Amino acid sequence: MSQDRDSLRATARAGSNIAFLKYWGKRDAALNIPLNDSLSMTLSDAHTTTTVAWDPDLKLDEVYIDGERVLDRRGVRVSKHLDRIRAQWYPWHARVASVNSFPAGTGLASSASGFAALTVAAIAAYGEGLPDPDELSRWARLGSGSACRSIHGGYVEWRAGTDHASSRARLFMPGDAWDLSDVVVLVSGHPKEIPSSEGHAIAARHPFMAVRQQLLPARMAAMKGALAARHLPTFGELLEQEALEVQGIMMSGTPSCLYPAGLTIDLIHRLRRWREDGLPAWFTLDAGPNLHVLTESRFAPDVVERVRSVDPRLECLVNRPGGPVTLLSHHLI
Ligand code: DP6
Repeated sequence: MSQDRDSLRATARAGSNIAFLKYWGKRDAALNIPLNDSLSMTLSDAHTTTTVAWDPDLKLDEVYIDGERVLDRRGVRVSKHLDRIRAQWYPWHARVASVNSFPAGTGLASSASGFAALTVAAIAAYGEGLPDPDELSRWARLGSGSACRSIHGGYVEWRAGTDHASSRARLFMPGDAWDLSDVVVLVSGHPKEIPSSEGHAIAARHPFMAVRQQLLPARMAAMKGALAARHLPTFGELLEQEALEVQGIMMSGTPSCLYPAGLTIDLIHRLRRWREDGLPAWFTLDAGPNLHVLTESRFAPDVVERVRSVDPRLECLVNRPGGPVTLLSHHLI
């Protein structure tokens, strides 16, 4: 870990993450305090690299994503996050450049990796050292809730907490404790019809949410037990149950969020048949149509082959447990 003290510049890389037990519904929308704890795996091959260069002479932030200057909502969201950070440190503006390892338009969530990398690069760029991981996780959470889990590598638990101090993610189990793969099947790259921020609000007022909250502590305990015991079938059943419960709330909310595409559902039916044939793989879904197939890494090539046999044009991104956020000495700007 190093930072460039002379030029007020630093670069950080963070992996995205896939939630096994989901954050969907907020207790406090301003601070991204969730209704419930969540559990995720940080991804090895879907990451964001971000350079932040503070410049006391700059009048406005300049934000570049994947090589292009962005002036839309994405740029505004980055600046809002920098506002929080500079309110605590120094009131300068910054040049920010960010690249994703996964191509834009794949529909893969970049806010988790993006805000984790942005947070760490921005704070490190002041050259005064980094706060501890709990504090970094809280800062990242303010940018995007799921980003607080991407501070850590491996398997990560976000304790919902009740306020800013108590809501942060911690390592649950190191990545090398169990070699799982998340085979992400890129079903569609179309932007979401309903952004997650709105989805969270719809979910929080859903009549089933109270029942979900009652069920979650037992599911979390069971899922942690299955992960610790590396028991794939138990883990897989809980993973699908959780994914379908959250999708049920998404679909039946007002307004309805129908994220899976026809192909997503078709692949789920096929996956269940493959499982009957002996392939130990289970799925989860996020707020989008891409299917995440979880299995032990030794079975990942088989998953990819079967998906390709459905349609050879289907792209799969295979992720193993990734590492924690890191500072890099090579800068993008
Ligand atoms: C479905 O973290 O994107 O991926 O806090 O509003 O930025 P904001 O939401 P975000 O929500 C992620 C939702 C999810 C589930 C999860 O990652 O736990």
